[in-house]
Amino acid sequence: MKWSLAPSSRREGDVTGVEAPVTVRAYLLCVFASFGGILFGYDSGYINGVLAMNYFKLEFGDPNSTDTENAYEGHMYATWEKSLVTSILSAGTFFGALFAGSLADWIGRRSTIIAGCIVFSIGVIFQVASTTFGMLVPGRLIAGIGVGFVSAIIILYMSEVAPKAVRGAIVSGYQFAITIGLLLASVVDQGTHSRLDTGSYRIPIAIQWVWALILGTGLFLLPESPRWYVKRDQIDKAAQALSILRGQPADSHYIRDELAELVANYQYELANMRASWIDCFRGGWKPSGNLRRVVLGMAMQMMQQWTGVNFIFYYGTTFFQQVGLSNSFVISMITTAVNVGSTPISFWTVEKFGRRPLLIYGALGMLVCEFIVAIVGTAAPGSDAASTCLIVFVCIYIFFFASTWGPAAWVVIGEVFPLPIRAKGVALSTASNWLWNFVIGYITPYMVDPEEGDLGAKVFFVWGSTCTLCVIFAFFLVPETKGLSLEQVDRMLEETTPIQSSKWVPTTTYADEATLQDVEKITGARHHEDAVTTGAATKTGVAQETAEKPDTV
Ligand code: BGC
Repeated sequence: MKWSLAPSSRREGDVTGVEAPVTVRAYLLCVFASFGGILFGYDSGYINGVLAMNYFKLEFGDPNSTDTENAYEGHMYATWEKSLVTSILSAGTFFGALFAGSLADWIGRRSTIIAGCIVFSIGVIFQVASTTFGMLVPGRLIAGIGVGFVSAIIILYMSEVAPKAVRGAIVSGYQFAITIGLLLASVVDQGTHSRLDTGSYRIPIAIQWVWALILGTGLFLLPESPRWYVKRDQIDKAAQALSILRGQPADSHYIRDELAELVANYQYELANMRASWIDCFRGGWKPSGNLRRVVLGMAMQMMQQWTGVNFIFYYGTTFFQQVGLSNSFVISMITTAVNVGSTPISFWTVEKFGRRPLLIYGALGMLVCEFIVAIVGTAAPGSDAASTCLIVFVCIYIFFFASTWGPAAWVVIGEVFPLPIRAKGVALSTASNWLWNFVIGYITPYMVDPEEGDLGAKVFFVWGSTCTLCVIFAFFLVPETKGLSLEQVDRMLEETTPIQSSKWVPTTTYADEATLQDVEKITGARHHEDAVTTGAATKTGVAQETAEKPDTV
């Protein structure tokens, strides 16, 4: 199919109409990718309950454990084993995410996610087969590498294919899928934890494979990211992919306008930067500099972990046992259910109020809850008041996380990088999530376990303090990206500061400013017979004639 680059009916100065209206089909296509979140959530969640299972303690634990309080028939694993098996997943995902940053530029976004599903499946086989930590730990490491591919590149893919008006909501859908994954893990753990055979832990582990299968096969049916095709100089394919995603004919003015903007923006960015890993750290501290954007993305994900949320999701079950709550499995399930139930609120709020308010007020809400739990738990440890307070405020805290930082942190990292370094920037940010996930997952048992730091509820003083830093970070460093195309975000970062950013409005497009030569540089000679033109050419009137042509496929 031939296409022409943006002979458009869009009037000069109209910078809003470069995207097609969102169709239900286009919406569903983008939403399917969010299924990757289930993999992420389930895999990080199932270990929480498995560690508290009696049969697991029997099979994997030391028969002569001194931890009589938590042991089952004298069997218990050591704190270091619990830390290692929990956090090794994050170590794998850290390296997986980083590697995926290169792979996604090389083989494409979609193929990288499919590759991630295959690696993940190998890790699952190891885990199902394991009867010792010696096998379970490598299994989680390998599965982690696969999850790293998936978690970094799904965000990239979704941000690149989603229409701008619903991009925040669609990426929030990924977070929703994470929470469903966590809930499913908790439900399956609850269903099998009382079994006294290997099924207790093997069933929860094996079920993960189903998610990988659905995601991997489903992705074959989705188009590759048009922005990746633009990066590869495959403009025809970019037009076809956009056409499928937007539900519009490839030569409709919507597709031509959007594509012209993608190409012109890429051209502009390339003229100003190269795209290696080192280039991610160039550009100094100005808001549009690569370094500043990478620091923003990595810090965003670091701060998301420092909200302390995974203390609840990784160690909630064992922590609730330690502070004397008898029905710890059920409480864990309730917290994960609150997580699922509250996330969809963000589908609306992230587009209505924007990313910044969600992050600022969300962190405020969380820190208040954390300090209340810490103060009551320290003042009256073991009391009914402390237990009720713990359950109620942990749930409110999860509500705030799920409706704000959970989704918004992913939304922002999908939006702030320019195309030449986008895959690497998202990968670095995701790797930062997993790095801090690992660090926190590893050190927390040492802070909390009775035989170690024995902090008990006081640990919430730590999370409350780190959450205070989240408020400061969001206020000073996070720009408002709501309602802008990824190309407009680039412009906004060049022209304003994070604090002023919500007032910024686009006044021009890259396509309007690009010259015909600029576009030909990337489209190459093979398009010379097409009516290749840009907004700049539009001004000369060249496109005005072609603009009246009917849209045909
Ligand atoms: C975080 C995870 C967390 C999950 C909880 C995600 O956004 O990155 O670490 O377990 O939310 O819903």
